[in-house]
Amino acid sequence: MPLRVRSILPAMTEATAQPAGSLLLSVAHLTAHYRTEDETVAAVRDVSLELHSGEVLAIVGESGAGKSTVAHAILGLLPGSASVTDGEVVYRGRRLLELTSEELRTVRGAEIAMIFQDALAALTPTLRIGEQLAELFQAHRQMGQREAAAEAVRVLSGIFPDGDRIADAFPFQLSGGMAQRVMVALATALEPDVVIADEPTANLDPGVRMEMLQRLEGLRDEHGVGILLITHDFGVVARLADRVAVMYAGEIVETADVRTVFRSPKHPYTFGLLQSLPSIHSAERLVMMPGNPPELSALPPECPFLPRCRKAISQCRIEPAPRLLQLEATAAGHLVACYNPMAIALRD
Ligand SMILES: Nc1ncnc2c1ncn2[C@@H]1O[C@H](COP(=O)(O)OP(=O)(O)OP(=O)(O)O)[C@@H](O)[C@H]1O
Ligand code: SF4
Ligand SMILES: [Mg+2]
Repeated sequence: MPLRVRSILPAMTEATAQPAGSLLLSVAHLTAHYRTEDETVAAVRDVSLELHSGEVLAIVGESGAGKSTVAHAILGLLPGSASVTDGEVVYRGRRLLELTSEELRTVRGAEIAMIFQDALAALTPTLRIGEQLAELFQAHRQMGQREAAAEAVRVLSGIFPDGDRIADAFPFQLSGGMAQRVMVALATALEPDVVIADEPTANLDPGVRMEMLQRLEGLRDEHGVGILLITHDFGVVARLADRVAVMYAGEIVETADVRTVFRSPKHPYTFGLLQSLPSIHSAERLVMMPGNPPELSALPPECPFLPRCRKAISQCRIEPAPRLLQLEATAAGHLVACYNPMAIALRD
């Protein structure tokens, strides 16, 4: 899927420059593979990131870049065919990859919650919406059945004008937008510290998209929640993100604060994604970058962006893939994996 782009710069507010709060979640050198019958897919390689309270970190990148795999690995939600072969995930001092599934269940929802990419598929089809919420309150808040059911209706009524009717509905009776709102209710019901939102605005009509953005903003600004935001939509990045990590073929190739990424991207991939952004026009545009990412089951030793890169130099063909580093000319925290980074700013 090509990355979706909306009018960017007018949407960037001063809020994006807020200082970060305390460290909530850190991922270090995360590496994960999927094994199929005839191949091993190196879906995520050496991914490191940090998330602070009251901060939104956006992960962007083309389809198949490994964004959801990072999210699922953090919460121990990878399928049986996947394994984390290296790295560490630490939430408030606890090493999540070392927890038992029982221990992880107590973290999920209550401390780190997830808004899934496909909300309808993520809901339990055989349980009414109210029951799914009530289960959370019974498991984590030690509420009795009646109290939990009443709490579920109360929470849903904060989102829908007819919360009691939604509580009685099964997932198949909801539209995609309603299911996405229910996902938010489920993800925030236990007031987690961290929310991982995987494409929270995909396929939503403009009204529900706006509501979703306001809810995420509210979580960050009023409750100090740290949000790991996975998205294809740069309009959402511009509005919500404090920092951005750009993923390409399973790796982070550039990371910086959101203004720096939009104004002065250094990696040719980031530059290519952003160069056709309209500065003032509101029409949605699609960025079509020529070429395709490499097969993750047969990665070349050199830079994975090489076949698509207009900045390639001989070093790129000879040396192993570049590492993510702080460049001399870049601001603190602006890391780039490239031997020949862009020298010009994209916009003032
Ligand atoms: N269960 C699986 N078995 C084998 N390969 C998988 C599996 N799930 C994902 N992959 C592969 O791992 C890579 C990363 O997938 P992932 O879903 O993390 O990408 P993504 O960045 O979230 O993409 P999208 O934007 O389409 O959601 C892709 O090449 C994908 O095909
Ligand atoms: S290392 Fe070379 S091939 Fe890779 S992105 Fe940078 S310039 Fe392009
Ligand atoms: Mg995904």
